[in-house]
Amino acid sequence: MQIGTPLTPSATKVMLLGSGELGKEVIIALQRFGVEVIAVDRYENAPGHQVAHRAYTIDMTDAVALKALVAKEKPHLIVPEIEALNTDALADIEREGLATVIPTVRAVQLTMNREGIRRLAAEELKLPVSPYAFARSEAELQATIDGTNGQKAIGYPCFIKPTMSSSGKGQSRVTGQSQVQAAWDYAATGGRVNLGVVIVEGQIDFDYEITLLTVRAKNQKSEIQTYFCEPIGHVQKSGDYVESWQPQVMTPNALKGAQNIAKTITDTLGGLGLFGVELFVKGDQVWFSEVSPRPHDTGMVTMCSQRLSEFELHARAILGLPVDVSMSKPGASAVIYGGIESKNLKYDGLEAALGVPCSDVRLFGKPQSFVKRRMGVALATGKDTDEARSRAKLAASLVKPSAE
Ligand SMILES: Nc1ncnc2c1ncn2[C@@H]1O[C@H](COP(=O)(O)OP(=O)(O)O)[C@@H](O)[C@H]1O
Ligand SMILES: [Mg+2]
Repeated sequence: MQIGTPLTPSATKVMLLGSGELGKEVIIALQRFGVEVIAVDRYENAPGHQVAHRAYTIDMTDAVALKALVAKEKPHLIVPEIEALNTDALADIEREGLATVIPTVRAVQLTMNREGIRRLAAEELKLPVSPYAFARSEAELQATIDGTNGQKAIGYPCFIKPTMSSSGKGQSRVTGQSQVQAAWDYAATGGRVNLGVVIVEGQIDFDYEITLLTVRAKNQKSEIQTYFCEPIGHVQKSGDYVESWQPQVMTPNALKGAQNIAKTITDTLGGLGLFGVELFVKGDQVWFSEVSPRPHDTGMVTMCSQRLSEFELHARAILGLPVDVSMSKPGASAVIYGGIESKNLKYDGLEAALGVPCSDVRLFGKPQSFVKRRMGVALATGKDTDEARSRAKLAASLVKPSAE
């Protein structure tokens, strides 16, 4: 592996498609290796735009715009950070040999849509998953839940989600028939793209859920090897992550089961890079939920708990460099929300927040705040995850966003 000099003809160039808080950290990690980075997002002054060599604002679902930008910038690697991309254009770009898509075009295509990844995991790979079905109308949705379509009933409680969405957008937990219509309507309007199809999943009554960060990287012999970080536990509210910690204690059987599932799914997706494999666990039993072919929001904890964060691991893996997934200390992360709508947000209380022992704060620099927009994260380590969690939550609560 050779890395050139940025802004010269020898530069190693990487283009990020999506430049939010996760992309920003990947960019910083790439910058440290002297990579030339081009950040692309759908809005101006996105977090990653602010730390890249060049920044562009385009509609990444527009094939013409995407291909024109790649033709102009000629990146070696294209790193998708979001799911709302024109993947046909990415396939053309790769087929024409213009750039390598991370981890692979097929992985990006399969994981952007819940139907693709769920059918692959459950029907082809036979991985354990929640009961599920797809519905293309409200009537079909009700019939699927009730089992009046000839299939086994999904029943209540169940989760109804748009097939293209993330961070819980458009997702509802439904406990009875009276809520189904609202859930159908919310899925239709809350998703990124209304494909007119929803997934309905039976609820898994798990003890805890984890993200297993799984890295496909080259070893010293240049062979691709799979590495697992320590499991990350997390709490989700309305489908959005609010808190995470590492390590999550698991039984040896559950850990083995989780790693087997993660290996199977990431082997199939292929390529190089870090994946966030989401799993539900009850006792020794493990279910596959979904997978991101990129760093995961719950993995932000690794900025304090591992020697190399998930972003540094992703950067190394995609460049073909060796990784080290070792954990250094128990750690935790807690989300800082905007709390108000503003295009001029200010943050107070940082002195107090950073006065919490072993704490740190990341402010993403997003140009616009909403009540429930993630604007930053507090990190903390401790002697165990209980201590790390209370420190991270305390530090997050001491950061006070305001428009004054
Ligand atoms: N079938 C299910 N059983 C139990 N909990 C679920 C189920 N589906 C989703 N959840 C809860 O909702 C969260 C978000 O769901 P997920 O499918 O990961 O959506 P997103 O792609 O928006 O992250 C999960 O992390 C979990 O807490
Ligand atoms: Mg998820």
